[in-house]
Amino acid sequence: MTTATAADQTETARVALEEVCSGRDLDGIPRVYHPDFVDHVNRLEYRGHAGARQSVGLYLALFPDLRFVVHDQVSEGDQVVSRWTLHGTHRGREVEMRGIVISRFKDGRIVEDWAASDTFELVRQLGLRRTMMLALTRRKLLSGTSGTSDGKPSVTRRVVDRALCRFRRNRACPIPPSETERVRKIQDKAAAGYDRQMNFFDRVLFSGGREWACAHARGDALEIAVGTGRNLEHYPPEVKLSAIEFSTKMLAIARDRAAELGREVDLQEGDAQALDFADQSFDSVVITLALCTIPDDRKAVREALRVLRPGGQLILLEHVRSPLLPIRAIQRLVEPLTIRFEADHLTREPLDYLTEEGFAVDQVERLRLGWVERVIARKPA
Ligand SMILES: C[S@@+](CC[C@H](N)C(=O)[O-])C[C@H]1O[C@@H](n2cnc3c(N)ncnc32)[C@H](O)[C@@H]1O
Repeated sequence: MTTATAADQTETARVALEEVCSGRDLDGIPRVYHPDFVDHVNRLEYRGHAGARQSVGLYLALFPDLRFVVHDQVSEGDQVVSRWTLHGTHRGREVEMRGIVISRFKDGRIVEDWAASDTFELVRQLGLRRTMMLALTRRKLLSGTSGTSDGKPSVTRRVVDRALCRFRRNRACPIPPSETERVRKIQDKAAAGYDRQMNFFDRVLFSGGREWACAHARGDALEIAVGTGRNLEHYPPEVKLSAIEFSTKMLAIARDRAAELGREVDLQEGDAQALDFADQSFDSVVITLALCTIPDDRKAVREALRVLRPGGQLILLEHVRSPLLPIRAIQRLVEPLTIRFEADHLTREPLDYLTEEGFAVDQVERLRLGWVERVIARKPA
């Protein structure tokens, strides 16, 4: 155990800010910070030497020429209060941010920091565009350590994550596991009225779409999220068909329909996000009007890629984000309601990520003011 005088502690607090936090002496972290160090930065929290490194890294990533200047320090007992100014340049814009940190000492090293800084002033100096870019590009540095005490992200974080996710459209978004259960319940409830509702939409919006999608199916084909089986009648008879669906109510109607049609099909209950099929089992995968509903649509596409044989095709019929601004604006306006009550995402667009997930997009057709999309994508050989 080390006994440090008030002067020692004050000096350590100064060194921590001016030398270590400025990034000039990152190796000094173990000298000034205790292994049990906890850093409370506004609402964020960093722990241990790794946390200290991460916290400094956050600032350094924003301001490569980072410099902290300590103005005043007050010491009492095991605590030192330091008033500081951060100086730095971000993308050509010089900024200053003022703040205060209370450092608590244990065995001569800082074991806890509470920092409060004038981030609003920083945002004002950076300007809206740089701040928006920062929110998008540096978010990773902020994530991982912040959250509620039970380890779950805070409500604010979840809202921000969702907003960023929608803004960054083609990036993978975190989906809470409970969402799959929520969607399944909605679909079970909707099953009885689904065909009546879809009779209208199939006529007005998607006419010819089911015939088009099924006509492209070849060999061993899998339909993902088959619903009530509205496509079954359109598959060529030579196609060896399997289909999955996670709503038992929808699936029951699909089974009745297959029996009525005399269509042989291996209908199974299953989750599109974790298919129960071996890699490279199918020549075609068909998805119609379901990527808008599957909680993690991108994961479903990844699964489709996995179960397709090289050269196999993914055939999609979807309603998507319209390229026309007025329509897109309406879609965005009503989407929170459709997601809430029907688990229906109006502004999803598989083209945002198909290529990134490993597909080669062979054919795209936009219909109904760009609202409806037909896509054929191939798993490269
Ligand atoms: C709008 S309906 C479309 C049904 C059908 N594909 C059609 O074209 O009529 C969306 C379907 O996706 C199913 N679904 C949603 N998430 C799913 C998942 N994770 N796994 C399997 N099916 C899912 C729903 O139960 C529902 O039947």
